[in-house]
Amino acid sequence: MNEELLQNEDAYYKLAEEKATKYYKALYAQVIDKSYIETLTIDFKSWEKEHIRRRSLFSLLSRRNEKQDSKTYYSYIKWLNVTGKLDRYLERSISYIFMRDLGKDLGTPATQERITRAVNKLKHHLISAIASEKNESYSIASLYRFAQKERLESTMIWLMSKLKTVASRLPEGMDAEDAQRKLIKIIAGVLMHELEEMDEGTSSQKRTQKLETAIRLGYAYGITYPFIDDLLDANVLSHDEKKQYSTFIRSTLLTGSVRELGYWTGTNKDLMIYIHSELRDAFEYITACQSPESRNHFYEQAYVFFQSQEVDRDKNLANSHYSNEEIYIPSILKSASSRLIVRSLINAPEDEDIDSRTFYYGLYNQLADDFTDMFDDLKEERVTPYTYYLKYSTVRNDLINPFELYWAVISHLIHHVYHSDDMTREVILDRAINGLKRCLERLGASKYYEIMQLFTGQMPSFNSLIQHMVHKAVDVDFFDKLLRDHVITILRNEKMEREQFFETVETVRFQINSTLAIPKHSSSLDLQEPITDAANYSLEGDGKRLRPIMTWMMAVNEYGFDQEAVVPLLKSLEYMHTASLIYDDLPSQDNASIRRGRPTLHNIYNVATAELTGLFLTQKAVEEQASLHQFDAKSVLRLIQYSTRRTADMCKGQLMDLDSKGKRLTLEELNIMCFYKTGIGFEASLVMPAILANTNDTEIKALKAFAHHAGIAFQIKDDLLDVEGDVLLLGKTPGKDGENNNSTFVSILGVEGAKKAMWDHYCSAIEALQKVPRRTAFLKHVMNYIVNRDH
Ligand code: IPE
Ligand code: IPE
Ligand code: MG
Ligand code: MG
Ligand code: MG
Repeated sequence: MNEELLQNEDAYYKLAEEKATKYYKALYAQVIDKSYIETLTIDFKSWEKEHIRRRSLFSLLSRRNEKQDSKTYYSYIKWLNVTGKLDRYLERSISYIFMRDLGKDLGTPATQERITRAVNKLKHHLISAIASEKNESYSIASLYRFAQKERLESTMIWLMSKLKTVASRLPEGMDAEDAQRKLIKIIAGVLMHELEEMDEGTSSQKRTQKLETAIRLGYAYGITYPFIDDLLDANVLSHDEKKQYSTFIRSTLLTGSVRELGYWTGTNKDLMIYIHSELRDAFEYITACQSPESRNHFYEQAYVFFQSQEVDRDKNLANSHYSNEEIYIPSILKSASSRLIVRSLINAPEDEDIDSRTFYYGLYNQLADDFTDMFDDLKEERVTPYTYYLKYSTVRNDLINPFELYWAVISHLIHHVYHSDDMTREVILDRAINGLKRCLERLGASKYYEIMQLFTGQMPSFNSLIQHMVHKAVDVDFFDKLLRDHVITILRNEKMEREQFFETVETVRFQINSTLAIPKHSSSLDLQEPITDAANYSLEGDGKRLRPIMTWMMAVNEYGFDQEAVVPLLKSLEYMHTASLIYDDLPSQDNASIRRGRPTLHNIYNVATAELTGLFLTQKAVEEQASLHQFDAKSVLRLIQYSTRRTADMCKGQLMDLDSKGKRLTLEELNIMCFYKTGIGFEASLVMPAILANTNDTEIKALKAFAHHAGIAFQIKDDLLDVEGDVLLLGKTPGKDGENNNSTFVSILGVEGAKKAMWDHYCSAIEALQKVPRRTAFLKHVMNYIVNRDH
């Protein structure tokens, strides 16, 4: 390691410590002389006027109607809008974000103007979201649509693939979803910062480029959380591995260049190779984006951040001798440096007061977070100001009470850092009361008061004032909290749905597999029925059964049909599909030698047998349809008519495909071809159960619109897998399309273009679902499966 740098950086950490100590001392003095109590009492007296209303009988009555449903995002926004509270709500929320996340001084006219602009934009967005009842604002589809609008498609596709890899590579002992959530939050933060720093006059090209960089920078910085901090906190690496790893990180931050990982002694070698390569790319990207000055800043701040965490990690709750400084300084440094890193990332201009704002704000924010996590931290025996105070305050009367320090820093922020600015006072006090309200709600009254008693012994009258506010004050809630709860609910529901989806898929696939085999009916022993064997050979292969699975989900879960009754329909779909694959693989068509993980039928038997088996299976399919005894005959006839027509259409599609060899199809022709050869199969799996259920034309139309896009997206993914896939996972040989000179989305648009087209169809499919008057969650998961599959 470069000794000189080591000393320099250590000197930098010392310097940062000195700064933090100075800030800390200013606060300490206020805790000791309790001056914050008097100041805040005055502040609360004026704040109270806006937040505690005297109640008339009328207002008591009307409050009943005001019963707000804060549990659901859209209805809460609606309620705010109807009661005329939305503007104030957004104003305090956005102001707070400007102060917290952008480090702005709310008192300046420039910032106020920006806040007003942001409030109007957000309000417009929310109002149109509640008006259209479109509750999909935070879906992947809407994110991708945003990316299209900003022409960031490639970056978004890149990001989605990165997030997927991170989640799949993180070891068992770490929370992959939490890592994804943090990453997204950090990226959103950097994006927001960049949007804020951007001028009105920025050209759209420049804007795209800046946003693209912000996303990549956000990722590059964001992965340091799961890959460095969380990994060092988790019980994944051994003691020695952790030491190796932190030496590696330290030397990277000190020298400003990522060194080789070297020989890794430990069981997590593969993980570390992956992490090392991601971190190297990340650091290189960050470095390349920065001016030399910001680069130094970045490494310095990153070092302070890392070092402060290392110091904290080394602490032990069993040690009763830490000084107040030892408890608070790393906390201040950690919080402040993480904010300064984000600024240095995007080369944000230096601003004179940013340091003191960041340091005080850092401590305030850290104390608020640690308060919330107090019990988790205590369980994990982590040293934080609160856990340490809880454990030792009875034997150490020199320890500062973190809750007092919290109020002292609030008072200091309002009056010294932000010069008694009204808006600042308003939002900080709102926030503080809101935090306690949320805590009371979360913990329940008895636990809440128990904590309050522990922390407010030295400020009894101030405490009664606060508790009065906690009970009586209104309009102290914030959009970022609502959004956070909303996103967490969405993610939790999605996860549940996804698990349920895959569970059902497994069960249904197993059931379908057990019904597919075609029995031999011949009584004469000399007729061996090789064609039945051949058909069964193709059916036994490792097919996904996606089409009949979709049918099952609609038929059983949505239309309420008996599982047994629809078995013939499921079989018919899989027979037709399998027949199409047998034809597709013939030497006269794609000439494929592997299908569903085994040799193709014509290779095991011969071409004539394969051709006849294809015909045999399509006939078996019709036979099955004609055996749908439990449905009325008219519907079954309609179903057969639909199905035979569509099978004929698929033949057209397949011929279009074969005729397109070597041609440059237009995008429109490509879409038509893919719909005919593939989309129709998807359409049939949804329309056939709908026909049996006698649903109306509007529903069928909506299902067709969905299937159209789902089918094409499926085929594009198939084309992509043909160039990027793995034979063992795919069960068929990749590279066939190139070999056959086929016209595919990839050959016409290139890999990147094909991915964009796939995501566009993905979004259209998801949007089409809004018109399907059924529970469509599983179709959304079908779409997620289609675009993410590797088989
Ligand atoms: C392959 O379909 C043919 C295409 C439409 C691309 P699948 O990928 O659904 O094949 P199996 O049924 O799982 O084998
Ligand atoms: C096949 O398309 C479409 C059918 C309906 C058979 P492909 O030729 O791309 O399918 P694979 O890749 O061979 O499965
Ligand atoms: Mg083909
Ligand atoms: Mg093929
Ligand atoms: Mg293919």
